[in-house]
Amino acid sequence: MSREPKVTVEHLVKRFGELLVLDDISFDVAQGEFLCIVGPTGCGKTTFLNSLTGLYDVTSGSIKINGEAVDLKKHSLAYIFQEYSAMPWLTVEQNVRFGLSIKHASRKEQERQARKYMELVGLSQFKDYYPDQLSASMLQRVAIARAFATEPELLLMDEPYGQLDTELRYKLENELLELWKQSGTTVIFITHNIEEAVYLGQRILILSNKPTRIKKTLDNPLAVPRDIASPEFVALRNEVTELIKWWYAGSFLAGQPGFTTNRGGRPPLKCYLSSPNFSIRMSYWPSRMSILITASLRAPSAIIFLAMAVSMFLWI
Ligand SMILES: Nc1ncnc2c1ncn2[C@@H]1O[C@H](COP(=O)(O)OP(=O)(O)OP(=O)(O)O)[C@@H](O)[C@H]1O
Ligand SMILES: [Mg+2]
Repeated sequence: MSREPKVTVEHLVKRFGELLVLDDISFDVAQGEFLCIVGPTGCGKTTFLNSLTGLYDVTSGSIKINGEAVDLKKHSLAYIFQEYSAMPWLTVEQNVRFGLSIKHASRKEQERQARKYMELVGLSQFKDYYPDQLSASMLQRVAIARAFATEPELLLMDEPYGQLDTELRYKLENELLELWKQSGTTVIFITHNIEEAVYLGQRILILSNKPTRIKKTLDNPLAVPRDIASPEFVALRNEVTELIKWWYAGSFLAGQPGFTTNRGGRPPLKCYLSSPNFSIRMSYWPSRMSILITASLRAPSAIIFLAMAVSMFLWI
């Protein structure tokens, strides 16, 4: 792999009015590299990709491809969005051909590439299906096939597997690695999932909360395919976890309660904590009652803990 940077990000700042999102971000992505970016929700990961593709103007600083300002007419980029993005009025095959058709590839080329990539992602027999006849993983495969069919020099993926179950995710991750190895394309892959980042990335860039800076960049020397049970994999995963657990605690909100009490035969009280905005939710089931206390970061933490303590006292 050549070390000539494919992407160069220099002192990138992005504001939305008063809101400072990206605060002086600088990094390179090497030619052919698979870079994973992890960061707390709302820290500006999608904003970064949108700035890279020119959907957003940057406030200051620069993003370059091959040392030049990004030019979508010149540079071949593919972007797989956070939400499923198959066009509902097109069949699987037409969706896969779409990127090529807007690049005015010949009909033959479109057919050849569509056939190749539908085969690689296991969609050949569904080529005449419409998106509403497909499962979530099939929809993501359509997006992946469409992206690779254009043979992009840079592939941007924004939490593409966030809504899939673990088994499907592994399957698609392996397919993606295979395609990446075959194509030699440069990939920037955004994820919340630490295991996914360590499984896929040759390098992992960890972002802070807003105003967002790079907290740390870790090299991942483990050979692909990676064994998620190997001590080296587990050690690296733990290292990333250590670096992000200050914000990862917020994922309590995503499903698992922070802690549960079950006193005096009452229904269990579940407390959820969310670090990004310091929201504290306390609820018990089966009652419909739920107490929601949300305090902004600017509120003194003493008030938050006082509110929490009072709520706990009243309950217990
Ligand atoms: N077009 C916009 N106008 C104003 N504010 C925006 C705009 N796009 C994003 N933001 C703000 O910028 C911040 C970063 O948003 P962004 O969607 O980039 O976060 P993210 O890291 O991708 O989050 P998630 O992990 O939830 O996808 C948020 O506070 C968001 O409200
Ligand atoms: Mg996002």
